Amino acid sequence: MAFSKSSLLATALVAMSSVVSAQSNSASYDQVAQIQLTFPAADLTPVPVPANWLDIQGVLNVTFGDVAVSNIGDKLTVAQVQSAPSFRISAQTPAASSNSVFGEGKLFTIAFLDAGVAGKNTSTEVFNHYLGNNFTIDASSGELRNQTGARVNYGAPRPDTNDGPHRYMQLVFQQFENFTAPASPAAGASISNLELQNYYRQANGGLGKIVAANYIQIEVGQAAAPSSTAPVSQASVTALAASKSGAAGGKATGSTSGSAAGATNSSGGNASAAASSLASVSVAGIVAMGSAALLGAAML
Ligand SMILES: *[C@@H]1O[C@H](CO)[C@@H](O)[C@H](O)[C@H]1NC(C)=O
Ligand SMILES: *[C@@H]1O[C@H](CO)[C@@H](O)[C@H](O)[C@H]1NC(C)=O
Ligand SMILES: *[C@@H]1O[C@H](CO)[C@@H](O)[C@H](O)[C@H]1NC(C)=O
Ligand SMILES: *[C@@H]1O[C@H](CO)[C@@H](O)[C@H](O)[C@H]1NC(C)=O
Ligand SMILES: *[C@@H]1O[C@H](CO)[C@@H](O)[C@H](O)[C@H]1NC(C)=O
Ligand SMILES: *[C@@H]1O[C@H](CO)[C@@H](O)[C@H](O)[C@H]1NC(C)=O
Ligand SMILES: *[C@@H]1O[C@H](CO)[C@@H](O)[C@H](O)[C@H]1NC(C)=O
Repeated sequence: MAFSKSSLLATALVAMSSVVSAQSNSASYDQVAQIQLTFPAADLTPVPVPANWLDIQGVLNVTFGDVAVSNIGDKLTVAQVQSAPSFRISAQTPAASSNSVFGEGKLFTIAFLDAGVAGKNTSTEVFNHYLGNNFTIDASSGELRNQTGARVNYGAPRPDTNDGPHRYMQLVFQQFENFTAPASPAAGASISNLELQNYYRQANGGLGKIVAANYIQIEVGQAAAPSSTAPVSQASVTALAASKSGAAGGKATGSTSGSAAGATNSSGGNASAAASSLASVSVAGIVAMGSAALLGAAML
């Protein structure tokens, strides 16, 4: 498949404008697909987070005091995450807007969970660093605000020394009107292990999809063997983005588990070298979308 210089330029401009729009209020379907596919690529899906829980519709920004996470998968230090995090939806897809996924009056449950080290910890059990129900969203700023006290108050990560990079997920679940908090963890419980899938089941349908999510890595010391995670292929991003935009007129919360499962295949084709360099983001989040787009444009 041959691309003319001008169509490559058009591709680059489209990609760049979608990067720019991330700062305003609209997220591209590629962006949310990329976030969603980072979960299987980082070995966070299907365990402990099942693929059919994920229907990412917005970009979640996590900030610890004055330390902002800039890209999903970023490495932070223990010192940087001492302040309790604040959460903000900085961009959402047109489908999310038209279906009011992050609309006024919508409730969310937010969890901050350690899934351990990739490949090393394959348990469905996670370590719960924070759990809050009854969050609402501020329509103008996108900030997620707790209307009631935390279920489990924030306790900062403290991964074992030389254990490898721990993966800390921040998950924003839809919380339906019929939600009643599962008995465990009890209100005001301390940070501790959590069987995530039990918690979800015990919510009796009161929790919906994970509509926004992020994750960071924290490593203390250095592991003997580095943990491995796979890159996200452009083909799987394109396929999932298409299925998300196709659902735009309909139900925004439909299952996307089929496409998400395809994400584990990171050997998928790259439609063109340009498309690949524009949109593939390393799982560690080293390559920012913005600089990748500029790189793509500069190569022309
Ligand atoms: C946080 O928001 C900014 C723009 O507001 C965006 O560029 C950045 O990628 C976001 N961070 C994450 C982790 O998505
Ligand atoms: C996996 O990691 C989590 C978080 O560190 C921990 O709570 C859990 O006990 C670990 N499970 C196993 C099987 O090591
Ligand atoms: C929100 O959470 C914080 C920290 O847990 C707490 O201090 C505050 O009282 C909560 N807000 C409400 C309205 O309960
Ligand atoms: C959520 O808010 C409602 C209404 O204020 C309250 O009845 C309920 O106890 C809260 N749930 C939790 C888990 O805090
Ligand atoms: C709670 O509400 C959700 C969404 O409307 C629904 O799917 C679920 O079945 C309800 N659960 C119960 C126990 O009624
Ligand atoms: C992975 O993707 C490639 C290219 O699209 C395809 O040929 C291969 O069959 C896929 N493998 C799996 C396990 O799906
Ligand atoms: C991916 O792109 C590279 C060029 O960067 C090309 O050599 C390779 O054949 C492409 N792979 C597929 C499956 O299209």
